[in-house]
Amino acid sequence: MYSEKPLAVYVHWPFCKSKCPYCDFNSHVATEINYAKWLESYIRELDYFLPRLAGRKISSIFFGGGTPSLMPPFIAGKIIEKIKTNWSFVPEVEITLEANPTSVEAGKMADFLDAGVNRVSMGIQALNDQDLKFLGREHSAKEALAALEKLKKHFSNFSFDLIYARPGQTLESWREELRKALELAGNHLSLYQLTIEKGTPFYSAYRDGNFQLPDDETSADLYKLTQEMCSANGLPAYEISNHARPGFESRHNMSYWKYDEYLGVGPGAHSRLAPAAQSRTHMMMIHDPAAWLKSVATNGNGIQQESKLSAQEILEEFVMMGMRLSDGISRKNFSLIIGQQPEDIFAKPQLDFLLQEGFITLDNAGIRATNKGLPVLNSVIARLLTH
Ligand SMILES: C[S@@+](CC[C@H](N)C(=O)[O-])C[C@H]1O[C@@H](n2cnc3c(N)ncnc32)[C@H](O)[C@@H]1O
Ligand code: SF4
Repeated sequence: MYSEKPLAVYVHWPFCKSKCPYCDFNSHVATEINYAKWLESYIRELDYFLPRLAGRKISSIFFGGGTPSLMPPFIAGKIIEKIKTNWSFVPEVEITLEANPTSVEAGKMADFLDAGVNRVSMGIQALNDQDLKFLGREHSAKEALAALEKLKKHFSNFSFDLIYARPGQTLESWREELRKALELAGNHLSLYQLTIEKGTPFYSAYRDGNFQLPDDETSADLYKLTQEMCSANGLPAYEISNHARPGFESRHNMSYWKYDEYLGVGPGAHSRLAPAAQSRTHMMMIHDPAAWLKSVATNGNGIQQESKLSAQEILEEFVMMGMRLSDGISRKNFSLIIGQQPEDIFAKPQLDFLLQEGFITLDNAGIRATNKGLPVLNSVIARLLTH
């Protein structure tokens, strides 16, 4: 391991109470869960990585899912303890739990705090019942607000998610909903535009014309309104969909966007580890929960695939992640991770075009997408990577 930089750890809990029709995360509805077996398997997988990552410090842990707030809090506690004893925590370690806003889960917040969690990200998704129903959510707006109030009693560091650009959503209705959300927000807010993911019930319903999404122009206006209102309320975007008061950016997610190393354990979790400078290993765990359990029991780990990324793959990932940030990618990170500067890597005609059209800036600090470039980031990145 070349790096002395602290490591982020992702823990995937693959179960939900029900499956939301828009969601393509690795989440399953299970009738029975053998909690002891799950805990034992996470511990075994973490122990498998102990020699490989010996001596590293941990900057963050993220319990994602699925719905990890459904797990008994002692499981989170034991996993946190294990990570702490295998490695060690930086003093300001961030330990996040994703939570759904039902009353049962809200009632467990004190126990999660005791277990060592110090940040909660709650998936509220919408603040009106009609849209919650459309999104297939298990909770009402009222229940979500009550859960948020309970959460605030225990955690000062919290965030919640909303999904916008929903069918029929107008600028006026989103302005009103976002105004309410900003009143409820703490120091962090995640606002995602609804995306239609292949293989989900929404995919076929949308294809069959059962609902329509706002057109491109409305979506762009909704995005612009979101940026303006959040900035005006002290929560500027630091990433395409994430807003925070300065200093409250999610450390864990920043590790992904800055292309730092992270270890993912649990079914379907991904890792990026750096065996040497300017090198990355990609690792993916077995997706299916039962198959992952079985593999951990026989092999001590659930690794399905492990491969060294090519220089081109590293560059593509590094650019795709880093350009999502409002600050873009620093020259320091280019030197550290790629070993070259933007001018050496990207074709001059493409850079000139993007600069002249005002989609990016390039200066002593590094390269970043402008307010004009961020909403069309995929095209900006495609151009950057074209020779
Ligand atoms: C792993 S998921 C959810 C965590 C938690 N289980 C929940 O549903 O509240 C993380 C977030 O991604 C967002 N998300 C998932 N699928 C999405 C989609 N198709 N379009 C937009 N946002 C999506 C939701 O806001 C969700 O809260
Ligand atoms: S959005 Fe959350 S609750 Fe819904 S299926 Fe996905 S992970 Fe589960």
